[in-house]
Amino acid sequence: MKRDFVTIDDLPDAALSNLMDLADRIRTNLRGHAADLPGYLMGSLFLEPSTRTRLSFEASMLRLGGRVITSSDPATSSAVKGETLADTVRIVDSYVDVTVLRHPSAGAARLAASLARGPVINAGDGSHEHPSQTLCDLYTLRSERGPIAAQTVVLYGDLRYGRTVHSLARALVRFGARVIAIAEGGLNLPEFVVEDLASRPGYGMCMVQINDLEDVFRRRGVEAMLVAPQTELPTAKAGEIAELSMRTKKVHAIYVTRLQKERLRGDAPSATLPILDHRFLKSPTFSDSIVLHPLPRVGEIARELDSDPRAAYFRQAALGVPIRMALLLWSCGMVDLDVGHPHGTRLVPCRGAECVNPGCITVKEAPDFAEVGRDAQGRLRCLFCEERASIS
Ligand code: NCD
Repeated sequence: MKRDFVTIDDLPDAALSNLMDLADRIRTNLRGHAADLPGYLMGSLFLEPSTRTRLSFEASMLRLGGRVITSSDPATSSAVKGETLADTVRIVDSYVDVTVLRHPSAGAARLAASLARGPVINAGDGSHEHPSQTLCDLYTLRSERGPIAAQTVVLYGDLRYGRTVHSLARALVRFGARVIAIAEGGLNLPEFVVEDLASRPGYGMCMVQINDLEDVFRRRGVEAMLVAPQTELPTAKAGEIAELSMRTKKVHAIYVTRLQKERLRGDAPSATLPILDHRFLKSPTFSDSIVLHPLPRVGEIARELDSDPRAAYFRQAALGVPIRMALLLWSCGMVDLDVGHPHGTRLVPCRGAECVNPGCITVKEAPDFAEVGRDAQGRLRCLFCEERASIS
């Protein structure tokens, strides 16, 4: 079977852990793998800006002894002449052994994987997913804080359009962690992620009111979404939101994301969260938390934090190379993981419906590929971007 990595659910838990174990071994001898993929060619097809993801994939392939061809400037690719992604992918795939794709449309990686003969790795598809960033995030959490199952992770910032947190939240819940999602102004986790998280066995979600974070928010009352094992969810009186006390919570990590300005759909956020600065890390709630960020940061983390040992974002970026080396070894068929059954899509195909997400690749340029399915609750969802669909 072709080893695509389109969503984080393409690899089961054991496989993700095995990849991290492999990255641990690679990391101790980064220069010792130059004969692992000789003769292999990776195509990096980046139709949206990138620094870390593209360079860490390319560094990974080169360190493995493979080679790389790159199309990294959307303005000089044939997309500006009107070429469809489907055609571009067919061509690149015919030149290389593995394609790494970044694209502004949700579902682009799924479309590419369905057309390519070789494996496709999703390096970010619109506001949908970014699973290799999640490998890097999980690997950082495990390296810095130990087993993920025991952790409480605060997701902070633009959780609606930030694709990294969509993949990460899914993975954290699968590993048994607790997630507290703090976002404002319509920027909390999108419905397709929330419904998926809440439907994981033994898990549930509820809105909570946090009243004991005045020291960092300079106001009383912050609304958040708690995703946790059902037994840990607080109960609320009818019509009220449950209260969550952070004083009693040990927060292992706070994962910050920037406002995804390029993806806002005429619905600019109505509120902004405070910048993460020294006040945050002085607060008893966050005194033992590492700070993660997929980067680039554009002001949501104060530079004064860079010298704090809890600021883990640069260490996190560096781990992108060993973990992507491990991923490429798997994609190219050089290592077997204990794959078992991937979580895969939980959508059952359904005819006569269409995606209504204007940011989806099928709506933008490939309606003939469109496919819709029903989720466990019977709701119609696009098989590419996972957002709502409707009967046409
Ligand atoms: C992220 C992305 O592209 O989604 N960056 C990255 O890959 N490290 C985050 C972002 O752009 O905000």
